Order: sequence, then structure tokens, then C-alpha cells
Amino acid sequence: MMTTFPPELLSFLRAASRVAVLTGAGVSQESGLRTFRDAQVGIWAQYRPEDLATPEAFERNPRLVWDFYATRREGAGSAQPNPGHYALAELEKRFNNFLLITQNIDGLHQRAGSRNLVELHGNLRRIRCSRRCGTIDEWEELPEVVPACPKCGAPLRPDVVWFGEALPEDGLHHAITAATTSQVFFSIGTSGLVQPAASLALMAKKAGSVFVEINYDPTPLTDQADYAFHGKSGEILPDLVKALG
Ligand code: OAD
Ligand code: ZN
Repeated sequence: MMTTFPPELLSFLRAASRVAVLTGAGVSQESGLRTFRDAQVGIWAQYRPEDLATPEAFERNPRLVWDFYATRREGAGSAQPNPGHYALAELEKRFNNFLLITQNIDGLHQRAGSRNLVELHGNLRRIRCSRRCGTIDEWEELPEVVPACPKCGAPLRPDVVWFGEALPEDGLHHAITAATTSQVFFSIGTSGLVQPAASLALMAKKAGSVFVEINYDPTPLTDQADYAFHGKSGEILPDLVKALG
């Protein structure tokens, strides 16, 4: 069934030039990648984040953390972008000023053709020194043991943001600027529970942006949304591109 969009939203979007979009794991769900918080199937329904996604976890058991991210990296590498990713790359071309802010580390937005992109939580394709000596590399193979930094000897780790860690400063700054100067802000496929990403929507709204949520389930942000569409982003986003004409 085609999604129906209120005509006033469509005409506002047709006239808009500044659009910011925040995405989360839900946009990759139709590519076969797991979300985090969905009951039963979410990654955090099976594992505890404190065992796998914190600096302390890596210190305690680097191998376990490596293997977890290696599995996710392989999954992301063999997954294909879905119609939602492609629709976002299409939308980027419509607006003079468009920023895609993603919490995803799977690289699928780039592969679908999105260019103006901020990765708030890093990317699975890179590794870096755990002591931040500056070493950063492409993650090519899964090594037998956790590799040591060629410069300082500390263990190398995935270049992703873990719980308790700060987000990349430039990326976050760019995201906040785009959100607070946008005319329309979309929150798509994210539970809106992880800060500071989740607060971008409210910052945007407070600054006068029209806030649109597209998510399978209602979220804590839904009440704040000017427009909320509940369903699959891989269906709603292509419908939106079509409806805009
Ligand atoms: P969550 O798993 O918390 O939320 C995913 C949301 O996507 C849920 O609200 C689902 O209803 C929705 N969803 C599922 N399938 C969908 C579909 N096909 N179309 C649209 N929506 C769908 O994932 P995030 O919000 O991305 O951080 O989680 C945020 C952060 O928490 C992640 O970046 C990760 C995680 O822990 C770190 O690892 C630092
Ligand atoms: Zn180093």
C-alpha cells in the first residue's frame, strides 16, 4: 500500500532547501542487519552492551570484542543497501543543503550513493589505535590475534564509538548545525533512546524545524513529531520520493 502524505507536508518539502536526516539501525533492517533494541531479534536482546561495546569490555576481553565486530563487519559487507538507503541518496539530490546524520556503522548509506554524510558512531571498515596515537587503518582481514598498533604497540580496535565514549567532535558539531538550521528534520529507523543523537530532533524542532518521524514502532520522540509515519523505511521513503515527483 502506498503511503499517503499530507499535501501541506509535500509542498513544504518541495519548497525547502535545508534538510537534515538522522538514521538508525531500522533503515538497515530490510538489508538483513539486526537492530539493537527490538524485542527478541535486537542485538541487545541477545547480548549485554557492557560486555561488547564499552572500552572496559575491550580491556577485559579484546578478542571477544574483536570477534563481535568482525561478525558485524562481515554481515555489513555482504548486505546490500535497500530501497530506503537509495531513496535517501535520491533525496539528497533534491535539496541544496542536505545532511544525512547516521548512527549506523555499516557503510550502507555510502554504498547507496549518499555523499553528504556524518557518521556519528564511526564505521566498521576502519580500525584505530586504542591509545589514540593517531594510527588509523582499513580493516582488511580478521587477524588471528588482536593486532598491536605499529606505532605505539597498544591493541588496535574497531573505529566505532562505544558506550561511555565521546562522539567525534567535528561530526557532532556539523550535525548540530545542520539540525538547528534545517527547515525539515527527519528521524528515521531509530528508537530515539541513545544520546546525544536522539536530542538532535528536539534541538531541530526547538529551532523551528518541521520534525518528521519515520519508524516501524512509535518512539519516545513520536509525541514531539509534527508528522509521524509508522512502517518500514524501505517502503515509506521510496513512496516519499515518488510523491515529491
Ligand atoms: P534501535 O535498535 O534502538 O532502534 C531501531 C528502531 O528501528 C526501532 O525503533 C524499530 O522500531 C525501528 N525499525 C525496525 N525495523 C525498521 C524498518 N524496517 N523501518 C523503519 N524502522 C524500523 O537502533 P538505533 O536507534 O540505531 O550505538 O540505536 C542507536 C544506537 O544504540 C546505535 O547506534 C548503537 C546502539 O547501541 C552504539 O553502538 C554506540
Ligand atoms: Zn598507537
